[in-house]
Amino acid sequence: MNQNIINARVTFRNSPIHILEQFTIKDIENACELFKKHSGLDECVIIQTCNRIELFGKSEMNDLDKIKKTWASITGLEKDLFDENMEYVENKDAFHHLLKLTSGLDSMVLGEEQILGQIKDSITTAREIKASGQHLNTLFDKAIRIGTRIRNSSGIGAGGISVGSMAVKLAEENIDELKTKKILLIGTGEVSTLVAKSLQRRGYKFDVTSRTIGRSEAFCETMGGNPIKFEQILSGFDYYDLIFVATTAPYFLVTNERITKAMKDKKKGMMILDLSNPRTVDEKVATIKGVKLMNLDQIAEMVEKNMNARLNKVKTVESIINEEVCILEASMKRLEAEPLVKNVFKNVENLREKELKKALQMLDEKDEKKIKIIEELTKAVAESIVSIPMNNIRKASEEGNSDIVELASKLFDYKKHNNAD
Ligand SMILES: NC(=O)c1ccc[n+]([C@@H]2O[C@H](COP(=O)([O-])OP(=O)(O)OC[C@H]3O[C@@H](n4cnc5c(N)ncnc54)[C@H](OP(=O)(O)O)[C@@H]3O)[C@@H](O)[C@H]2O)c1
Repeated sequence: MNQNIINARVTFRNSPIHILEQFTIKDIENACELFKKHSGLDECVIIQTCNRIELFGKSEMNDLDKIKKTWASITGLEKDLFDENMEYVENKDAFHHLLKLTSGLDSMVLGEEQILGQIKDSITTAREIKASGQHLNTLFDKAIRIGTRIRNSSGIGAGGISVGSMAVKLAEENIDELKTKKILLIGTGEVSTLVAKSLQRRGYKFDVTSRTIGRSEAFCETMGGNPIKFEQILSGFDYYDLIFVATTAPYFLVTNERITKAMKDKKKGMMILDLSNPRTVDEKVATIKGVKLMNLDQIAEMVEKNMNARLNKVKTVESIINEEVCILEASMKRLEAEPLVKNVFKNVENLREKELKKALQMLDEKDEKKIKIIEELTKAVAESIVSIPMNNIRKASEEGNSDIVELASKLFDYKKHNNAD
């Protein structure tokens, strides 16, 4: 039976942030269990970042409708929303997409590094919760290695463009004399690091806050900025002219109420840049007079304007991916035959050892040199009988001839489910 690798995804390419965030999966372990139970998948990996929610799966019988239904039940969304926002590919196209991800070609900021770490984390989690198995583990391990190689050889990530630098640039385009303004950064994670680096590089002073003051202090020691207590901020937004928010809080940290209160006595305007997905700034604040709210949608537009240098490298990366995807496809197809091949080699080896032992006992042979010669003879005979058919089975599998693999399984009396090693 053919093994199919599927990829179902909702990303920033098709969906703006307010739609994308609705597809977020809160409990990855539970979702993997449900996809396996109700969508016919026997392996799955979920990649979830600010720009994408992606499901990779392995199954013998693909059923897109079941995948949509399960995802809809996990998120409480209507199935129609999936028709409008979800992209779906299989096998070679799924491998191709994963290579685009690992090499940074599908990222909003072309070539950015974060996605590679996020993919590594996704497969590590899938392994830990036993959601993935031989097929997806092999696919992801290979795709991560290939993606790393492509990045190193093409220099696609060179040039210092990041979500952080684009956010700062967006602020510069919208605020006059930014150097004289009060700037606050909420969050001390990866994205905040990118924002802080960019602010530092451009010589801006800024405050940093996080739930624990210790985190903010440690952050500021390496990234610059001035640590401020979280509680002080929540009641004192009015002090700031520009606020970057990059947290994974599952609720609105910057609420309509807080900003309405802050703007009451404030004479100047305020810009808020919400870099989070799901968003942590209530979109209603955009309706408050004097407040300009921007989010990842505007960052995406900014990135597009600044990508020229990296765009030149896209063609090179694409042609490497096109070569690599064929090799990856062949090795994935080979996996179908591997359990059978392994089983045949194991059985032949057991048989050889058993018969050798019997023969040596009958001969009562004690001469080590002669024993070695007889042993090598049995190995050579077994190897020469089994190698050619096994290589042919592997080749048939690589070429997608599942019939031959199935026939060989019958000939060698191999039953997949009884031999799950
Ligand atoms: N990584 C990327 O490439 C990327 C790019 C664009 C946008 N984003 C989005 O940006 C956001 C931050 O991503 P990240 O990669 O920087 O995450 P991260 O490294 O995990 O950092 C998360 C930050 O959120 C804070 N946080 C979590 N729960 C909170 C809560 N309930 N109240 C207040 N603060 C809370 C954490 O503070 P503590 O230390 O107190 O836990 C930490 O500072 C996410 O929404 C993500 O989707 C990420």
